[in-house]
Amino acid sequence: MARLAGRKILITGGASGIGRATARLCAGEGAAVAVLDRSAEAAQEVAGGIGGHAFVADVADHGSVDAAVEAAATAMGGLDGVVNAAGIFSSEGLTETSAELFNRILTVNLTGTFLVIRAAERFLRAADSASVVNIGSGVGLIPTGPGSTAYVASKGGVIALTRVLAMELAPKIRVNVVCPGMVDTAMTESFLRDNQGGIRSELAARYALGRAAEPEELARAILFLLSEEASFITGIALPVDGGRTYH
Ligand SMILES: NC(=O)c1ccc[n+]([C@@H]2O[C@H](COP(=O)([O-])OP(=O)(O)OC[C@H]3O[C@@H](n4cnc5c(N)ncnc54)[C@H](O)[C@@H]3O)[C@@H](O)[C@H]2O)c1
Repeated sequence: MARLAGRKILITGGASGIGRATARLCAGEGAAVAVLDRSAEAAQEVAGGIGGHAFVADVADHGSVDAAVEAAATAMGGLDGVVNAAGIFSSEGLTETSAELFNRILTVNLTGTFLVIRAAERFLRAADSASVVNIGSGVGLIPTGPGSTAYVASKGGVIALTRVLAMELAPKIRVNVVCPGMVDTAMTESFLRDNQGGIRSELAARYALGRAAEPEELARAILFLLSEEASFITGIALPVDGGRTYH
């Protein structure tokens, strides 16, 4: 029996990395999937490969979010799952972080998560039961060193937002946040490129499991939280970080 048979799931950031792996896994488990991303071509490619739907929107723009979420719910005949995987990174510390950069990171990562859930709320409430899975970060739980000021603040915000919405949207809608460590995606590649790649092994050594995750390893945790197997789990921040959080 497919674990998400009959489910209707919207995945932001579904054109790449963790979102793309989740879109493919959810479709493989029987769900109808809508991929929402700012990158039209990549979103269409992912959706086309899984028989899903693609919608182009900037999660930071409430007008385009409202329109895309409504279109996704219409296309699938409802909505009972949302995965907020759209996100951007910046490694700058306090001194290098301009007000504009800080606002941009917060607006995409935190406000974007809020806007998507707000737009989806009426559809999720109409379902028998529903699940929202946000993507935070291990650094949103425990910053592991100086730097990435705006990014860390945004992910701490996503974790707090998750906890309050778990209470607001209960009992029909569960809300959880997955907190990854380093994952092999375009985001990580670009960070490592900016740092000449030399720190990959040094970073990997800080994980109990000694490596970065594959995006599919995050997708499996997200699938669990979306599914009825997690029917009594809400408001949790689940580290999926190969042991990094506990070092
Ligand atoms: N890669 C990691 O090591 C890591 C670690 C912890 C947390 N995360 C988080 O996981 C999530 C997914 O990251 P990833 O590594 O898969 O990155 P990625 O860059 O591979 O994918 C991010 C996707 O989000 C989309 N996106 C970005 N801004 C958007 C916007 N304003 N509107 C719509 N779509 C937008 C991009 O087009 C892209 O398809 C992010 O929230 C990220 O912060 C990643």
